[in-house]
Amino acid sequence: MTAWRAQPGLKVAIDGPSGSGKGTVAQRVADMLGLPVLDTGLLYRLTGYLMIRQGLTADDEAAVAKLAESMLGDVVWNRQGICYRGQWLNDELRGEDTGSAASQVAAMPQVRQYLLSLQQQAAADGCVMDGRDIGTVVLPHARAKFFLTASQRERARRRWTQLQQAGRNVDIEQIHAEIKMRDQRDAARKYAPLKPAADAIVIDSTTMRIDQVVDRIIAVMARRHLIEAIT
Ligand code: DC
Repeated sequence: MTAWRAQPGLKVAIDGPSGSGKGTVAQRVADMLGLPVLDTGLLYRLTGYLMIRQGLTADDEAAVAKLAESMLGDVVWNRQGICYRGQWLNDELRGEDTGSAASQVAAMPQVRQYLLSLQQQAAADGCVMDGRDIGTVVLPHARAKFFLTASQRERARRRWTQLQQAGRNVDIEQIHAEIKMRDQRDAARKYAPLKPAADAIVIDSTTMRIDQVVDRIIAVMARRHLIEAIT
């Protein structure tokens, strides 16, 4: 297998809807290049999780924004995931209800504003960052931007398989409906909607394996001399 070296400080933005495979792809690309991977969804998930835990609802936007601001001092967010007040919460944040709450808080401009500078600071020395607005808002000057997508049905099938493997018996039609609703909310919001940056390379992974997507991304960056093979 070829080893690769990234240009110093290289920032790679990988955006896309849920189930597009961006998390796994980002992790593999980061490992191949020796860069940290940063999952921005965790920041929105933590905000949604705390909103539920504190008995708040998305109707009270001012209170949720305040929560996002105050939580920042207690958060460690890095390649290992997210830690709040000394507790790593990666698994706790994976549930469907947290995902849905995350999507609601992610539509709040003030929440996004509070989380923006944390993301930009964390990316400063180079990273692979995945999310929805990395190429458009968080790292608009990133030299490598990719937007992964796949059909809603295929994304529902992937999520369903994941849950089955985790021993959870769920209805694929319900997952499909949830994905549809989440897509609509993420793409229709006024502030930082889910959409490819003008200079992003769009990859439809509906009929591709993860390793094929990773190979495509590596090939693009090598062609642009953003990374080089180490012989
Ligand atoms: O990628 P994920 O499923 O963990 O993201 C959870 C929610 O957070 C999702 O509904 C969209 C939102 N999100 C966002 O709006 N911007 C990001 N950069 C990352 C996630």
